[in-house]
Amino acid sequence: MKDKLQELREMRAKAKLGGGQSRIDDQHARGKLTARERIDALVDSGTFQELGRLATHNFSDFGMAEKRFPGDGVVTGFAKIDGRRVAVYAQDFTILGGSFSEVQSQKVCKIMELAMESGIPVVGLLDSGGARIQEGVRSLAAYGELFVRNVMASGVVPQISVQMGPCAGGAVYSPALTDFIIMVRKTGYMFITGPDVIKAVTGEQVDFDTLGGAVAHNTLSGVAHFAADDEVAAFRLVKEILSYLPQNNSEDPPRVQAYDDPGRRDDMLDRLVPEDSSQPYDMRQIIASVFDRGSFLETHAHYARNALVGLARLDGYPVGVVANQPMFLAGVLDIDSSDKIARWVRFCDAFNLPIITFVDTPGYMPGIAQEHGGIIRHGAKVIYAYCEATVPKVSVVIRKAMGGAYIAMSSKQMRTDLAYAWPTAEIAVMGPEGAINILYREELKRAEDPNGLRKQLLQEYVDRFHNPYAAADMGQIDEVIEPSFTRLRLVNALEILRSKVASNPPKKHGLMPV
Ligand code: HXC
Repeated sequence: MKDKLQELREMRAKAKLGGGQSRIDDQHARGKLTARERIDALVDSGTFQELGRLATHNFSDFGMAEKRFPGDGVVTGFAKIDGRRVAVYAQDFTILGGSFSEVQSQKVCKIMELAMESGIPVVGLLDSGGARIQEGVRSLAAYGELFVRNVMASGVVPQISVQMGPCAGGAVYSPALTDFIIMVRKTGYMFITGPDVIKAVTGEQVDFDTLGGAVAHNTLSGVAHFAADDEVAAFRLVKEILSYLPQNNSEDPPRVQAYDDPGRRDDMLDRLVPEDSSQPYDMRQIIASVFDRGSFLETHAHYARNALVGLARLDGYPVGVVANQPMFLAGVLDIDSSDKIARWVRFCDAFNLPIITFVDTPGYMPGIAQEHGGIIRHGAKVIYAYCEATVPKVSVVIRKAMGGAYIAMSSKQMRTDLAYAWPTAEIAVMGPEGAINILYREELKRAEDPNGLRKQLLQEYVDRFHNPYAAADMGQIDEVIEPSFTRLRLVNALEILRSKVASNPPKKHGLMPV
């Protein structure tokens, strides 16, 4: 027995060394922690229970017989973060570049299945060159197995991916199926193939950062939701995100002890919206003022900045926030912001987060590029997502709510439970200039004083529609509220809606316009 125990201890110690000390040193030299160090830094001390530590592959082609490492390049198990259970896996770049193998797949799929059955979030720490080349088609099949688990877990348990190394191939497609992607600046990369293959296939020359760095994916592609300055900052983000989320889709998001007066008024809001409705203001000021102090965690912050989405708390209860941002492109709804909003609304709906929407948008973005890029298809996603969502939904029209975008952005007709408006709201089919040109084209042509007539017609239009009262008269707005009371009104609204029950007709699934 003593020998056997000794043998086990030696094997476990070997597993701890991953691909060996020199590779660990390489990893550190690149500013990266090892897989085990990462798990230690992420989870509550002493809570990690590893599974599959000694598993190895059985291949011998391409010199693989000499490259058997216990664990096979991924560390998997269960732990706690802030006292709540998580399933976690960390790829080990020191072993064959963290490449994804049959054994890796079996290990990751195993914890994912247990996580799904027990309703536990899954956190993946990725650092992998993609499918293990030596295993050929078997490593592709291994990804297929993982993708099925990612998709089956989608909307059941939260899934968070942290990109911590040069991630290629399946090491980007699996994260793309999860709810959040955090990229570590300067060390985390995502691409389906790296610069060398691109050069060979298309002749394009590009470096890692430009192709698939944290900035590229947070600003241009929208693939990533967060950029963290370093690995520790990425772990802080994981913890922060999880703190707003339920463990699974059958739980409510966890309330924290309320620390901010629910009735707190902010007179600044009564002065925030400029008199001239073409002047911008920062929607973030409204969000910062209305929700519990410091609780707004913006996601997708650098992508499609004409829309804002994120998590926040209201009287301690987590909520999802959606808003137009007049500071960028006047808050217009274009292709990218539509995708951003629709994805977020669906996420909130899947995990029982009430959705609060602040509206200030001149409408869907006109233009040939937008039309040919599919603004109809992308814009329809916003409509689809709001119509489908059954969680409590509350909207506040701050200023412009024009045309289709008024209806799309959580309008009452689209199953929004409570629709509020500030006195500064302007709710109309289109802006005054466009409307007058269409309605009075002939009259303006024939008029002796076209400018005078135009001015008069514009004023009539503004008087009629540049306020919330026409919509309130028709019941499209439930209440016109004083801006400084917005927090209290929202707290009370969610109080009413806390026990809301709503459902959709039975179906296999709808056909979200993708
Ligand atoms: C086997 C791999 C590997 C892989 C890296 N390694 N990727 N081994 N399979 N996919 C090994 C290297 O041979 C090397 O081993 C060690 O990992 C470190 O790799 P380096 O190249 O030295 O590191 P670095 O310079 O940092 O470059 C990392 C990299 C590069 C950018 C990830 O290795 C690379 O381009 N790999 C291939 C990426 C790729 O095209 N993958 C797509 C796979 S297809 P030694 O022993 O020499 O140190 C795929 C499809 C999935 O994933 C299906 C999706 C639908």
